[in-house]
Amino acid sequence: MSEAHNPPAGMELAPESEGSNRRDFLDKIALASLGVAAVGGVRVLIGYLSPNVLFEPPTRFRAGAPDSYPVNSVTFIADQLVYIVRSQQGMWALSAICTHLGCITQWKPEANMIACPCHGSKFTKDGVRTAGPAPRPLPHLSLTLTADGELLVDKLETVSENSLLRV
Ligand code: FES
Repeated sequence: MSEAHNPPAGMELAPESEGSNRRDFLDKIALASLGVAAVGGVRVLIGYLSPNVLFEPPTRFRAGAPDSYPVNSVTFIADQLVYIVRSQQGMWALSAICTHLGCITQWKPEANMIACPCHGSKFTKDGVRTAGPAPRPLPHLSLTLTADGELLVDKLETVSENSLLRV
């Protein structure tokens, strides 16, 4: 009876702790794999449940106090692609996006005009096209005053080229 538990002559049984270590190691690998799979599953679930919405910057922005714009000036607001123009009569806001193919125009004070660098369209500071392939004038944008006296531009609302904000 006791011979059944003894190894054949010349062979040694591995200590019991070595087999236990291997089993523990495999258990840990299995647990780690399950953990990675669970994290991946949760990420997929969160992505599925999250609304598929494109967040865009607001189309209305405050442009500061009217007095920060000198009379007879054209100011390019680079992060909004808008010109704020002030004349003796009042103020207006113009889109700086060329109506030809959408390039960003540039104010050229030395020539007193707005020019498109792409195909040569030119505009007055009223937005009127004077040269080039642009099919329309630069759009005038809604320009109003907030309750606390700041300029408010709405890039989604175009207005007549005769609209003036008197300040
Ligand atoms: S995009 Fe301005 S002229 Fe073509």
